[in-house]
Amino acid sequence: SDIKPWGGRFSEPTDQFVERFTASVGFDQRLYHHDINGSLAHAQMLAKVGVLTDEEYTQISEGLEAIRGEIERGEFNWSVSLEDVHMNIEARLTERIGITGKKLHTGRSRNDQVATDIRLYLRDEIDSIAAELTRLQQGLCELAAREADTIMPGFTHLQTAQPVTFGHHLLAWNAMLGRDYERLMDCRKRVNRSPLGAAALAGTTYPIDREMTAQLLGFEGPTENSLDSVSDRDFAIEFTAAAALIMTHLSRFSEELVLWTSAQFNFINLPDRFCTGSSIMPQKKNPDVPELVRGKTGRVNGHLISLLTLMKSQPLAYNKDNQEDKEPLFDTIDTLRDCLKSYADMVPAITANADVMREAAMRGFSTATDLADYLVRKGVPFRDAHEIVGKSVAYGIESKKDLSEMTLDELKQFSDTIEQDVFDVLTLEGSVNARDHVGGTAPAQVKAAAARGLKVLAER
Ligand code: ARG
Repeated sequence: SDIKPWGGRFSEPTDQFVERFTASVGFDQRLYHHDINGSLAHAQMLAKVGVLTDEEYTQISEGLEAIRGEIERGEFNWSVSLEDVHMNIEARLTERIGITGKKLHTGRSRNDQVATDIRLYLRDEIDSIAAELTRLQQGLCELAAREADTIMPGFTHLQTAQPVTFGHHLLAWNAMLGRDYERLMDCRKRVNRSPLGAAALAGTTYPIDREMTAQLLGFEGPTENSLDSVSDRDFAIEFTAAAALIMTHLSRFSEELVLWTSAQFNFINLPDRFCTGSSIMPQKKNPDVPELVRGKTGRVNGHLISLLTLMKSQPLAYNKDNQEDKEPLFDTIDTLRDCLKSYADMVPAITANADVMREAAMRGFSTATDLADYLVRKGVPFRDAHEIVGKSVAYGIESKKDLSEMTLDELKQFSDTIEQDVFDVLTLEGSVNARDHVGGTAPAQVKAAAARGLKVLAER
């Protein structure tokens, strides 16, 4: 087993099981790129303030870049007895460049190092997740523009309520994701602060320049308090909370896609390449991608609870507990990125069965509210109008006719205020066109909203 960088005060080697139990290198090696960048900035700053010579800095930076190459070519030998990514890279640096490698850790601790690494890593991941989110939103807005005139039933209680356009429904999903994007960007501000220089917990005696390292690493600025800097994982919790909400939205979206691809609904088709078959039932085409996304929501919600529980009751400052932040955070990132990617790829290929949607909208007396509003406009009090329309619907159920399929005489049985012009509002088109205000389902509004949505996305 390797010589421990902290071995000086120990009189026996670490128990082999404990070595494996306490190691994080199996999962934190994915931080290598940001760990090296953090070390480069730290070393450059040490050289500027005179703690390292320029010659030493050059050796360190060349050594670190060579190690980055080794890792990327798969040639790096990760060692569990060196515990984590930080000590593996540092030990290798010393192996490569000799005693100068041992100077890199001057004025630094793994505690501020790991906090810096996670923030750098998460910042990049937030940016790529935000890009996938935007791509998905673009797909939704473009599909909404194409489907602005496609009429379907809108539901409450999963019962037919009023006609809406498919485009309008798609833009509801887009609205949810728009808020998600804002949440990610807001979280990013608090991710983007540099804890480097907090050292173990109290700061360091060297004349470090925290502004410089913050700037070199693209952070907004250094964090405020050294104790808080090494123990704060709020940013990871915030990100996971934002991720859990995105997953919750994707899960609701998935639920509808699963329902709508069923033989009973048959509102939409998903492309074959996003579905799978059954090993026994030859007719099956299962919406696996939406189902899996719906299912993966559970693990992200779980990670949020894990992180909250991890931080609960931790005394200041750093505790080894914090090593447990990584797996939930990494799995949240991976899960969210993959789910968004699959949706961003799939959404543009969704096709609508407009005739089936239309027929479904015809079936559930979806224009009953329009008839009530019509009567109100003719001077009938709303409660009386509600009663009149209720009776018309009862008649429709019995005679198997939608309101728009009844003759004027049939409708007049329930109120003689009803005239020929009633048919303008009883049709599905009349119904959706009448909801012609910002946020309404009228095709003209949906087209305008989709265009506004695309403009917002283009300006991001
Ligand atoms: N592997 C550790 C982590 O993930 C790095 C920091 C360890 N610091 C310490 N003093 N044990 O948090």
